[in-house]
Amino acid sequence: MPSSAAKHVRDYFGVRTLLAAHPDMRRLKRATNATHLHGNKLWGSAYLLIDYLQDNPLPNNCKVLDLGCGWGLASIYCAKALRAEVTAMDADPAVFSYLSLLAEHNDVEISTRTARFDELSTDELGQYDAIIASDICFWDEMSKEVFDLIERAVDAGVKKIIIADPHRPPFLAVAEACIDDYFAELTPREVITSRHHRGSILLIENA
Ligand SMILES: C[S@@+](CC[C@H](N)C(=O)[O-])C[C@H]1O[C@@H](n2cnc3c(N)ncnc32)[C@H](O)[C@@H]1O
Repeated sequence: MPSSAAKHVRDYFGVRTLLAAHPDMRRLKRATNATHLHGNKLWGSAYLLIDYLQDNPLPNNCKVLDLGCGWGLASIYCAKALRAEVTAMDADPAVFSYLSLLAEHNDVEISTRTARFDELSTDELGQYDAIIASDICFWDEMSKEVFDLIERAVDAGVKKIIIADPHRPPFLAVAEACIDDYFAELTPREVITSRHHRGSILLIENA
């Protein structure tokens, strides 16, 4: 890698990320459509999720679905560190060219799926051992869609659902309902990369 590019690379938890000034990132930004629904950058909660997974790894070769994956940092961590078979899904197809670029820099392959949360059926969710997500519930109207998806995933027998969040009120409403209905755990977590990230991990385990 030319030294001019190397200074725009960061490595946290073994996952390589590119700063906005990296030549590949600049090229991609010029060539692609703008993202919407907040899929426009790497969000800090992905590091809360990765940090949690580092301490509580999924079994090797697990089939993982990353909901509202954005640029897919947590997907990349699962494929790289946990040898998981990962599908990264998002409603906004514009995020996938960023995910592909980062996957390429990390030497992993990730399957992608364009869909909204309410389009994932119980049958489809049942194909996964674990569902992960970070910062996917940020508007009030999203709470019902996210809770209904969790309900379908529990019905489908998905063994673990792990959602990281920086304590946005619509997420906390979902977390409260999951504690009541599914004995979920909500645990505060902090992690420092170049910034200090704070939030919680919601864990739903399906016996
Ligand atoms: C705040 S970003 C978080 C992205 C990523 N999980 C992270 O932590 O960096 C929210 C993501 O959820 C996606 N999203 C929002 N609403 C969605 C929906 N109803 N169905 C699927 N994806 C959705 C957005 O396109 C965006 O990529």
